[in-house]
Amino acid sequence: MAGIQLKGVTKRWGDFVGVQEFDLDIADREFLVLLGPSGCGKTTTMRMIAGLEDPTDGDIVIGETRVNDLDPKDRDVAMVFQSYGLYPNMNVYENIRFPLKVRKVPEGEHDERVRRASAMVELDDFLHRKPAALSGGQRQRVALARAIVRTPKVFLMDEPLSNLDAKLRVSTRAQIKNLSHELKVTTIYVTHDQIEAMTLADRVVVMKQGVVQQVGTPTEIYDRPANTFVAGFIGSPAMNLMEGEVVDGTFHANGAEIPGFDGVKGSVICGFRAEDATVAEEGRGEVSAPVYSMELLGDSTMVTVRAGGALVAVKAPKDFRTEIKAAFSANVPASICHLFDAKTGERIG
Ligand SMILES: Nc1ncnc2c1ncn2[C@@H]1O[C@H](COP(=O)(O)OP(=O)(O)O)[C@@H](O)[C@H]1O
Ligand SMILES: [Mg+2]
Repeated sequence: MAGIQLKGVTKRWGDFVGVQEFDLDIADREFLVLLGPSGCGKTTTMRMIAGLEDPTDGDIVIGETRVNDLDPKDRDVAMVFQSYGLYPNMNVYENIRFPLKVRKVPEGEHDERVRRASAMVELDDFLHRKPAALSGGQRQRVALARAIVRTPKVFLMDEPLSNLDAKLRVSTRAQIKNLSHELKVTTIYVTHDQIEAMTLADRVVVMKQGVVQQVGTPTEIYDRPANTFVAGFIGSPAMNLMEGEVVDGTFHANGAEIPGFDGVKGSVICGFRAEDATVAEEGRGEVSAPVYSMELLGDSTMVTVRAGGALVAVKAPKDFRTEIKAAFSANVPASICHLFDAKTGERIG
């Protein structure tokens, strides 16, 4: 059991900064998710924690120990990768057992530990199969079992679900959540999928181009995004972001007039979530524009219009119907809006 501290952890290759001054205290047993688009430095951060990559600057502490100079095998971390990394000529049992052999765990303990780990990921019936005879989801579960078989101090998981199809991703995600609850081992989980981040994390770290944008619980990040990047990354659909001007406390943009922003003036970006807005009587809402598209989602109808230089979505009731180009109006009161500085993108207030 161990917490992790990152202190000014930086990775440069020549002039290129892969990860910039990453500072974070990760609590013992926390499930921390690193979230961001491809290339933002997630894998690099994880590889530095595992010891597969040396930081250019900064310190990494696991438990009480500064681990910068420790070999990967001496850090007591277990990694699960996107590409499962199984040994093709060993069966499931031997794959799961392998870390115990490498770490010279007494032979007498192997069988019980392999069976316990494989039971946790529901692989009991597949122990004699070779990886080639397994589905993608089963292979990823072998990789998970291989990580949990030796109860390390820290789990590192790098996009473990991204090779699975959509349905399997959802069920394996639930399994990882359940597993983390059972095992209570500090876990760092990397993904570019905001839904995975929101559903799994105790806290989420949103990254962009090597720089941490926000650290918070899923609720904090959803309710109070720190800037337009986070606002535009979290939620499905992501937050609507309209460009406009606040004059005399009213936000003005093409298709939008929203009073109630006293004390603000000048160019801003006004954000709101599709699910916070409601359909208004024609011409009565703060956002009014012709319909750009209508999508039937089953539990709701998503209506999109163009306002403030962007396409903005409004979640309407499931039986709501309209047509492209028809007039549409939505209630978007100031109380559901988030304001951001037009230049920096940082949250105002
Ligand atoms: N060995 C390397 N040499 C130079 N640049 C690298 C190296 N490894 C990764 N990078 C760059 O660092 C950035 C972050 O990469 P990575 O951590 O793999 O991103 P992510 O996992 O978030 O997709 C990318 O722009 C990538 O091209
Ligand atoms: Mg990566």
